Amino acid sequence: MSAPRSVKGMRDLLPPETAVWAAVEATARRVFSLYGFEEIRTPIVEETELFMRSVGESTDIVGKEMYTFEDKGGRSLTLRPESTAPVARAFVEHNLREQGLPLRLFYIGPQFRYERPQRGRYRQFHQIGAEVFGDPGPLSDVELLQMLLRFLDELGFEDLVVRLNTVGDRASRSAYAQSLREFLAPRAAELGEDSRRRLETNPLRILDTKLPRERRVLEDAPRLEEHLSDESREHFEMIVRMLAERGIEHQVDPGLVRGLDYYTRTVFEIASAELGAQDAILGGGRYDGLVADLGGPEVPALGFAIGEDRLIEVLPASNASRFVPAAPATVIAVGGVAPEDALRLAEELRGSGLAAVAELGAGAMKGALKRAGRRGSRYVLLLGDDELSSGAVTVKDFESGRQELMDRERVAGYLEERR
Ligand code: HAM
Repeated sequence: MSAPRSVKGMRDLLPPETAVWAAVEATARRVFSLYGFEEIRTPIVEETELFMRSVGESTDIVGKEMYTFEDKGGRSLTLRPESTAPVARAFVEHNLREQGLPLRLFYIGPQFRYERPQRGRYRQFHQIGAEVFGDPGPLSDVELLQMLLRFLDELGFEDLVVRLNTVGDRASRSAYAQSLREFLAPRAAELGEDSRRRLETNPLRILDTKLPRERRVLEDAPRLEEHLSDESREHFEMIVRMLAERGIEHQVDPGLVRGLDYYTRTVFEIASAELGAQDAILGGGRYDGLVADLGGPEVPALGFAIGEDRLIEVLPASNASRFVPAAPATVIAVGGVAPEDALRLAEELRGSGLAAVAELGAGAMKGALKRAGRRGSRYVLLLGDDELSSGAVTVKDFESGRQELMDRERVAGYLEERR
């Protein structure tokens, strides 16, 4: 019988990389809280209907990528493919408006999409996201981008590209969808199968095609700009102006439409040149109609979600290694000293906030040193009969190769200074 393996597209995250994940998440928590964001945790499973009504039935996510199943009570449930809809659901369900608007929430957790796995694309992936309810902007759009850039800056990112666009309010968008459909219908023969299908269901999605032939057809297509309402246009122009005033580099990309139906007005992505085709490390935008669509009040909202897997794949290497904590010191009992005494010394060190692992087996010194090396310990503390009777410890520094006999009380201070 073959050994069980993890499900295709779903990974185990192993040490030492998990330390990088924890540090990235701690950075997000710290930076987001500077802006007044508080954490929300929603269930991983939601009623399927939620995503159909929010993300949209004509999107790839709902149409092809959801993990949907029936539970024993006959309900159709889905592993969340994203978290904006669940957070908006919770906002309505718990009447969070009562907590005072604008309400700023963030989340960190796994999401599930049945996509073809490749570098930067998994079936279980992780997002760090934030949502703001109750601020019509445009200042809050800019503030959200500033928060993102501060977070990315703290992680050491430099060459990132902010791409943004406006998809207009709902009325502008449906007028535009109609004119795009009219333009493309007589040219349908030049479109691929996917785009021909989208022509019926969601013509805006054709705009982000990568096929050169379709890109050529689109060159003469009507532009969304021409259909924007004055409010939408002003909203977007203000954002672009404020970004420029703050020296935030950005590109306006009229082809950026994003694959979820709830967006209105601002949409944006931040990309890393290193990721190739799957280059967006995060995406977001405004969704002013979603809360009302889910049965809540008219509350404008906006947010983003960072793909944590992708973010970590392109994290500047020097920072990634900075996030991995130093390996623990190894305590070894030698000669006739019992491993119990090694454990006691390790506990003393832990009491002083120092990481230590005691060799608990009574095995040979050589094996113990080998394990210390594999563990990455810089310091090995040797506790022999002489040391034990005189209240001393031999401290071996693997980096300098030096060895020193010192009073037991001094050890913690010594390690502390060299941490
Ligand atoms: P999204 O663009 O679908 O937006 O996903 C956001 C990010 O999640 C992407 O930019 C990417 O980094 C990451 N991501 C998506 N799919 C995968 C995958 N299969 N494997 C690895 N990473 C992936 C949303 O999910 C919206 N809820 C964002 C949002 C929040 N808009 C407003 N508020």
